[in-house]
Amino acid sequence: MTYYEKGVEKYQPEQQDPVTARKIEALKGALKDELVILGHHYQRDNVIRYADIRGDSLILSRKAAEMKKKHVVFCGVYFMAECADILSAEDQKVYLPDLQAGCSMADMADREAVEAAWEHLTSLSDATIIPVTYINSSADIKAFVGKHGGIVCTSSNAPKIFDWAMEKGDKILFFPDRYLGLNTALSKGISREEIRILDTLPDRSGIKKARVFLWNGYCSVHKYFEAEHVHALRERFPDIRIVVHGECKDEVVRESDHFGSTSTIIDLISASPKGSTWGVGTEEHLVRRLQRQYPDKTVMSLSEPGFQCATMSMITPGSLLQVLEEIRAGRNDHRIRVQNEIKSYAKTALIRMLTL
Ligand code: 13P
Ligand code: SF4
Repeated sequence: MTYYEKGVEKYQPEQQDPVTARKIEALKGALKDELVILGHHYQRDNVIRYADIRGDSLILSRKAAEMKKKHVVFCGVYFMAECADILSAEDQKVYLPDLQAGCSMADMADREAVEAAWEHLTSLSDATIIPVTYINSSADIKAFVGKHGGIVCTSSNAPKIFDWAMEKGDKILFFPDRYLGLNTALSKGISREEIRILDTLPDRSGIKKARVFLWNGYCSVHKYFEAEHVHALRERFPDIRIVVHGECKDEVVRESDHFGSTSTIIDLISASPKGSTWGVGTEEHLVRRLQRQYPDKTVMSLSEPGFQCATMSMITPGSLLQVLEEIRAGRNDHRIRVQNEIKSYAKTALIRMLTL
């Protein structure tokens, strides 16, 4: 088990150390003309409070592209900071407060294995295969996709990106999340017989039959949600609405009322009438925040206890403070820099998505 798979801890309301809080506020004030802090919805409460902009992966990548501030501190995980670096201007610098804060799913697709699968599929088929990568992937995988005429998607725009890819080619090769790929393909009316998970590489006839090839990756947080969790909540609360993240297993999505990105989850709950009851299948920090934000609604985790993303939780007020102190001192210890040769193709794939 890797360090980031130990993602299950009991949720504890997070304490705010007043000394650290004062220092962060003071540095934010001192750097305000040249600093922006971006925060993903899964961040700890005592970190997200400092974010100038909160969002899902799509919103934050758009903001990273628009931001003119010299220093961009990304409270999120590694691939998010890489995207910000790829999309930011030459004179901007992107920082990740903890360089160990990776994403287990992104680590499941490495360039060498992806190149080998591509070689196999394209050598045995004349069909046009469009590579699509979920944004939860390394810059190297985004570069591969950009180089081969493909595109990036997020959990917000995956259905639209599938339409684009299906129009452009005959088949899709999707990385790294088999569940987001499967849930999206099924929602587009593609049958299970036409979807092939790449646990092994298919032969010529397997390639011919498939319209969508899915890399065999998954999220080490969302994998814990089960269809039984949905059934148990529906039995206890007959009027409950269930919303889950698109990274959940297909059987969980099938039993739920809605699936989508973190923004989909937030928007649905915020727009629902007072007194609504919601079961939410996503990372625990976001679920608890929604509970506090909407005391007139009942919001609960699909499973109790909930599940936390261990790498998102690596960003702490202490690590944020350290980065701000480094910026103030003119140091770059936590800077994220994508190599130029990877950057240009990865940018092509990201810009294709952002301009759609
Ligand atoms: P969103 O783009 O929906 O915020 O998801 C990011 C993520 O890492 C979910 O696990
Ligand atoms: Fe990666 Fe899952 Fe954590 Fe999202 S929740 S950053 S997909 S491990």
